[in-house]
Amino acid sequence: MIVCGRLAEVGLDAARRLAVEYLHGAEGVDRCWAWRPDLVVSALLGGQVVGVCFASPGFGTGIVVDGIAVDGNFAGRGIGSKLLSAWEVAAGAAGFTEVTVGSAGGYVEHFYEKNGYRPVEYCVTVPGVVGVDGPGGVEITRVRVYGDFSLVNIASTNGRDPDAKAAALAACGGTHLSVIYAKSLSPMS
Ligand SMILES: CC(C)(COP(=O)(O)OP(=O)(O)OC[C@H]1O[C@@H](n2cnc3c(N)ncnc32)[C@H](O)[C@@H]1OP(=O)(O)O)[C@@H](O)C(=O)NCCC(=O)NCCS
Repeated sequence: MIVCGRLAEVGLDAARRLAVEYLHGAEGVDRCWAWRPDLVVSALLGGQVVGVCFASPGFGTGIVVDGIAVDGNFAGRGIGSKLLSAWEVAAGAAGFTEVTVGSAGGYVEHFYEKNGYRPVEYCVTVPGVVGVDGPGGVEITRVRVYGDFSLVNIASTNGRDPDAKAAALAACGGTHLSVIYAKSLSPMS
């Protein structure tokens, strides 16, 4: 039976290993553990950590799903959905009201949509420094400059539509695009 809930410290190394194998490394787990250990949520199967979901701060009462990973041996069995739902309950109980998450594409977009997330923006990686006004023809919501590249957020509810993604990339001269999904949380979610 799958049991989802706050990660026990004894499971931290197993959670880190999942993040290394399926995400971009263990740093996000460690950051969330230091910031809000109650929002590092695990899925246990027979007492073993087979999934982890963790967060980073958003704006105001917003919060960001920094990563979610399920052991590939157990993928596609509903564990990820159950884990995400348990994490949302924890985030809602902690007082957060909206969650956002970035998805680089593929089946993960289906996963978030299936779990009630709605596309609200694109985040486009653009080489070089982009001015605050950004490119024309699109509604810029945010520009962040990181030395040799910039991240340009564009309002869009087109989600995984490939034509809309291509148009957004072309408008910005971007090299990479992720869809930003959002979902409202309630204390009862
Ligand atoms: C994304 C992830 C957490 C989903 O976990 P999961 O336990 O497989 O999720 P669920 O079983 O609840 O699946 C939900 C939906 O996603 C689909 N899905 C999951 N893995 C899939 C895969 N490898 N290929 C195609 N579809 C997949 C399922 O088919 C299901 O949709 P359906 O019911 O309509 O068929 C897991 O696949 C994973 O760890 N991926 C690698 C890490 C990652 O990319 N994380 C997200 C970015 S932070």
